[in-house]
Amino acid sequence: MKHPPEIAPSILSANFANLETDIRQAEKGGADWFHLDIMDGHFVPNISFGPWVAKIMKAITDVPLDAHLMITNPREYIPKFIDAGVELIYPHYEASYDVYRTVQLIVDLGAKAGITLNPATRFDVVEPFLELIDSVLIMSVCPGFGGQKFIESSVQKIRWLRKLLDEQKPEVRIAIDGGVNLENIADLRHAGVDFFVAGSAVFKAKNIEETVRRLKQIAESV
Ligand code: DX5
Ligand code: ZN
Repeated sequence: MKHPPEIAPSILSANFANLETDIRQAEKGGADWFHLDIMDGHFVPNISFGPWVAKIMKAITDVPLDAHLMITNPREYIPKFIDAGVELIYPHYEASYDVYRTVQLIVDLGAKAGITLNPATRFDVVEPFLELIDSVLIMSVCPGFGGQKFIESSVQKIRWLRKLLDEQKPEVRIAIDGGVNLENIADLRHAGVDFFVAGSAVFKAKNIEETVRRLKQIAESV
């Protein structure tokens, strides 16, 4: 099942000295979500920001926010992100043995839940979560940093996942994160992606607005 494509610029690559300016441009280009990359320096080798940035984002934009939790103890922070106004939360499958409990908590607190898979994680681990989730976020780089090279085997993984979802729960969407750009978005859409996270391709571009618009146009044209 194909869902309308959505573009979620990751603010990790935005200019934090001038965040509002970057956000306005992405909004004008038609950003559907803003993607917040939450890193704790433990689950991934980098530290980013916490719920307070979600609050700032909420104050400057009406575009919905999703939070990608690259953190070891997500349940401690999920209520804070939801209080801050985040609507969709992506914990990592690999973060804990009881990730099912984490996904359940997100749903119980009234937000949309996703599940995130690292590049080395099999696509079919999503089966137990299908009743609870809005989407599966496929990592097409190892999480931790913006601007990394897209891992090509992610395309085949998406095709397999789309087939599994179509057989078992067609409403569940596929999201992708890592190395998405103007050159590969058509292939990714073709393989079955509905939700495109893009960091450096958007915020390091000369024209942020035009880049978001182009990404969306290409995804819509496939
Ligand atoms: C990586 C993050 C990504 C990152 C994407 O750990 O989850 O969201 O910001 O950046 P690009 O699009 O530059 O690969
Ligand atoms: Zn991310």
